[in-house]
Amino acid sequence: MYIESVTLKNFRNYEKRTVEFKDGLNIVIGKNASGKTNLIESLYCAGIGKSPRTNKYKEMIKWGSDFAYIKVVLKKNKTTHTIEYSIDNQDKKRIAIDSIPLVKLSEILGMLNIVFFSPDEMKLVKESPVERRRFMDISLSQQNKNYFNALSKYNNIISQRNRLLKEQKDAKILKEMLYGWDKQLAEYGAIIISKRYEFIEKIKVFAQKMHCEISENKENLSLEYECDIENSDKETLSQKFFEKLYENFEKDMSLQYTSFGCHRDDIAIKINDIDARKFASQGQQRTVALSLKLAEIYFFESETGEKPVLLLDDVLSELDMGRRQKLIELSTGLQTMITCTDFDGKNIDYNQINIGENS
Ligand SMILES: Nc1ncnc2c1ncn2[C@@H]1O[C@H](COP(=O)(O)OP(=O)(O)OP(=O)(O)O)[C@@H](O)[C@H]1O
Ligand SMILES: [Mg+2]
Repeated sequence: MYIESVTLKNFRNYEKRTVEFKDGLNIVIGKNASGKTNLIESLYCAGIGKSPRTNKYKEMIKWGSDFAYIKVVLKKNKTTHTIEYSIDNQDKKRIAIDSIPLVKLSEILGMLNIVFFSPDEMKLVKESPVERRRFMDISLSQQNKNYFNALSKYNNIISQRNRLLKEQKDAKILKEMLYGWDKQLAEYGAIIISKRYEFIEKIKVFAQKMHCEISENKENLSLEYECDIENSDKETLSQKFFEKLYENFEKDMSLQYTSFGCHRDDIAIKINDIDARKFASQGQQRTVALSLKLAEIYFFESETGEKPVLLLDDVLSELDMGRRQKLIELSTGLQTMITCTDFDGKNIDYNQINIGENS
């Protein structure tokens, strides 16, 4: 799939502008603060339904205006589709696909698949497990509606369960109240865990290959999904999950939150057998994060038969010449948007988009 154009109205620093893209490599060039990241953000919103930068949608409305509007035209399986995304000053979002308004905003997922990379993504390696779970969740939710549904239900039950653990002090009553919820939690948990195992299994081979190439064969990357329950069929996973909840009852009751579950899982990342989460250098973190993102492309393609759109914000400036070249080589064959302040693209076929003059 690829994006043909985006039209922005009152989005961040854009009053009104249409930008056209080509399939393949698009280089977005402009000075600092000209609107490059804003443009990438608008494409991300059209794919994922929210900003990679903020949870406050209103921030995306141009200062002094009362709405923001994004329209993306994309080609998918040779058919043209439109995604329209608007935000009003009450923070309310509306989304329409091919002019039909969505009842549930999450239905946007899967229409335009996005793999996004910015310097911020280095958090993926060194920061808390939240970031690594987010990586799996966003990726899996885009290509699998079941996963997304299971995840939202799971999160819902966890917050209700935690509320109950805080409020109900009578162990017997609490145990009875939790029984039904825990059955459901175990069922949704099993769907999530099983998909995550599959995801990591699939991307690890490719991520390792990418990492090896980018690091010029010096480093060996390995990934494992870290979960307290061994991989198995869904029924067994669900049963084990339920048992663990049961075993942890006293502990949860005293902690007043759910101490076991896939909301606590992680991805173990090792470089040459050393825990990268603790010891990776800046450069290594960048290479790992980039390898994971490039592996995600492969994952999308194998799951959906379509290549996603790759958004690379401010990534080139942080890489040396060799790594830049490698990245551009690796990202050919799919639509890629790269932002930078200048670009030396001898011998490369690309579409240049200048930002700043008329935004
Ligand atoms: N809601 C908004 N309304 C108007 N302008 C905004 C809004 N939000 C951000 N801006 C402004 O948009 C400008 C462009 O921001 P953006 O992050 O896209 O720049 P950039 O081209 O990516 O710059 P850099 O090269 O430094 O990364 C900034 O000056 C920012 O203050
Ligand atoms: Mg920027």
